Amino acid sequence: MSKFAGLGMFQSDTQVLEDIIPEQCPMSGIAADFEPFSKTYIDDPYKFFARARSEEAVFYNRETGCWVVTRYEDIRKVFQDPQTFSPALARHPVTPLCPAAAQVRDTLDIAIEPCLVDESSETHRPHRKIFGDAFTPKRVAEVEPRIRQIVTDYIDRFIEEGRENGQAELVSQLLYEVPALAIFIFLGAPDDDAVLVKQLGSSRAIVNWGRPSNDEQVELMKDMGRHWDFTKELVDGAIADPGDNYLGDMVRIHREDPSRFTVNYLYNVMFLMQFAGHETTTQASANGIRAMLSDRVQWEALCNDPSLAANAVEEILRYDTSIFTWRRIATTDTEIAGTAIPEGSKILLLLGSGNRDDAMFPNGEQFDIHRPNAKRNLGLGLGAHFCMGAPLARMEMRIILEELSKRLPDLRLVENQEWKFIPTLTFRGVQELQVELGKK
Ligand code: HEM
Repeated sequence: MSKFAGLGMFQSDTQVLEDIIPEQCPMSGIAADFEPFSKTYIDDPYKFFARARSEEAVFYNRETGCWVVTRYEDIRKVFQDPQTFSPALARHPVTPLCPAAAQVRDTLDIAIEPCLVDESSETHRPHRKIFGDAFTPKRVAEVEPRIRQIVTDYIDRFIEEGRENGQAELVSQLLYEVPALAIFIFLGAPDDDAVLVKQLGSSRAIVNWGRPSNDEQVELMKDMGRHWDFTKELVDGAIADPGDNYLGDMVRIHREDPSRFTVNYLYNVMFLMQFAGHETTTQASANGIRAMLSDRVQWEALCNDPSLAANAVEEILRYDTSIFTWRRIATTDTEIAGTAIPEGSKILLLLGSGNRDDAMFPNGEQFDIHRPNAKRNLGLGLGAHFCMGAPLARMEMRIILEELSKRLPDLRLVENQEWKFIPTLTFRGVQELQVELGKK
């Protein structure tokens, strides 16, 4: 097993990861100005990204202990070489757990192991083949009518609720719950639990990538324990009685040949997918609708031609995606764009920056749903670990755009609203989206 395996948050305290600080730590203007938790950056990281790409495309940052990579081509190369740039770091907490939270963690009956997103190549390859191949177009297409119906029902509901003032708040009234229901339906979990589980899972974005206080860490850790218990029960139920759904398929594969993966690994995949499958989609959809409605020409183009929705989704994942950074760790001495990167160095890939790199996307700061190569965005990763849920995420976002543009072509952003983001290193999504419904 790679010496970088098991860097997730359930590492023992003896495995704390030391930063590899370069001997002559270059504190240039760019490195000194990278303040990933400052309000200015969280509100709009793109100005900083543009400067970094042109002034110092790879630099070391003390606050995160990471080498930061900003250009499309360099990020692509890192993603395509998981042996040299291991994903083992993907879920490692950015803020070390406080002793009280670590104590709660140690009492939990929870067996997290490296799983897909942070797994080393040797085991990732066979596991991804099994779990990725089972994520079939047929399984995704099967759930489309139910997801469309849910979106339609939510739109009906907020139109009804907004009858008096003609307004709605799209995150709480649509985007928060729909992706949770969608992933639950896809996996074969009871939809009644979706919202509660979403609340438990949402905390992971803050524990792993944010700056939670000690008290918050303790509460979030307890939520994680509850979420794990839920997941275990779900999988055990499917083992006893596998349904006609993705989880049922995985149980049948396990029954045929238990050597392909363990039951604990299946708990881990389901635990991962319930989290990966909704917070990301909620936030990307919220950012996307904000971008669409901020540029009337784009919105009207979509209203006039709904077939543009699929490419609009790609452009959203390029222009303002919800996972705007992602991490890797160097397994050997290497280099990125001529900068020496020592073994053990943490690397922060600024996906949001690569996504606006003019070298790949001409006029990259411009949101354009007709962009011919929007699909080459980095929003869903690239290479061996490319987002396994991409077909489902794309379908949900497309349905949301199609239904909103069809039902509410006069939709507008409420003017002068304040945009709030949760301060995390990796997740980016507007927390509220106030809209005027216009004529129905
Ligand atoms: C807009 C929504 C989504 C975004 C922006 C997103 C983004 C990402 C990113 C950036 C990665 C890491 C790629 C890498 O390391 O190269 C990833 C991996 C993954 N995602 Fe997503 N994701 C989304 C939705 C989903 C959904 C709906 C699911 C599940 C149904 C899902 C399941 C996964 C899994 C299992 C992995 C790990 C794949 C592997 O390492 O083999 N994601 N996603």
